[in-house]
Amino acid sequence: MPETSHPPRLSRSLLYVPADKERALAKAPTLVADGFILDLEDAVAPQAKEAAREHLRAALAGPSDKPRIVRINALGSEWGTEDLLAALAAKAQDILLPKVEGPQTLLALASALEEADALPRMRIWAMIETPMAILYLREIAALSGKLPLAGLVLGLNDLAKETGLDPSPDRSELVPWMVSAVAAARAYGLLAIDGVCNVLADEELLTGECRQARRLGFDGKSLIHPAQIDTANAAFAPAPEAIAEAEAIRAAFADPANAGKGALAVNGRMVERLHLATAERLLAQAALIAERERS
Ligand code: COA
Ligand code: MG
Repeated sequence: MPETSHPPRLSRSLLYVPADKERALAKAPTLVADGFILDLEDAVAPQAKEAAREHLRAALAGPSDKPRIVRINALGSEWGTEDLLAALAAKAQDILLPKVEGPQTLLALASALEEADALPRMRIWAMIETPMAILYLREIAALSGKLPLAGLVLGLNDLAKETGLDPSPDRSELVPWMVSAVAAARAYGLLAIDGVCNVLADEELLTGECRQARRLGFDGKSLIHPAQIDTANAAFAPAPEAIAEAEAIRAAFADPANAGKGALAVNGRMVERLHLATAERLLAQAALIAERERS
């Protein structure tokens, strides 16, 4: 049976950090992103791949209470195997696999991890960035019953390039693929992370993309620059009114006078037990955010 509960892990902002950029790697632990994607793939030029693996090793040496996800090159590429070995040597726990074409791409990674006796301690993330990945979304997400799959990360730049789709600034043409990815993630208990906003200094555009992604059900957004973090953290955090409403729903169902009732009226609206589950999830997320802000 697929896992349908949505894991309460903060992933509002996942910042790509090119692993060949020492200054960026050094800056990451000082930033308030919920997690980092240390990139060995497209952000790193072919001649810098080897140095990037070395820097990755150094960057992962210290402890961190946030996910540091290593994006390796595709295993079929000339760099993939070396990247995976470097990630394992550096004790990476999260691997993001690019160019996933279907379940077999992930199964190949899983068997390489199994060979290295690393599979049980890993979390695997899949880039959804090829037309084939869109066609195989269900089969990819369904691997979560078999593999330690953590989430789907959209790569909308690649998807646009591979399909020829030329999205408008409001990304309306991409919405069907975005919601398909969210549905697959939700059906199998995975996190869903939106693609990047390529424009660096357009606060309004970034805020719009974050809000759109949140409305579509995404847990967070992948980012390319530290200046984008606060916007994503704010947009994907529950609003104070939503927290108040969730508390009211929880209190209503906890009231002994309502014991055994399936549907209640709260603040003039009908709520059912499914709304209680949503409210509990929202409150768990708000508690995680409050805890992070305190620390
Ligand atoms: N992660 C961590 N730190 C970053 C960063 C990132 N993604 N991007 C920039 N920084 C740091 C810089 O090192 C600099 O810190 P410093 O002053 O201590 O050196 C500071 O933030 C300001 O950087 P800035 O000068 O504004 O950016 P830039 O012009 O050097 O770089 C980009 C702009 C887009 C090239 C850079 O942000 C980047 O490489 N982003 C990631 C790209 C990527 O990973 N793409 C693949 C996935 S789509
Ligand atoms: Mg890509």
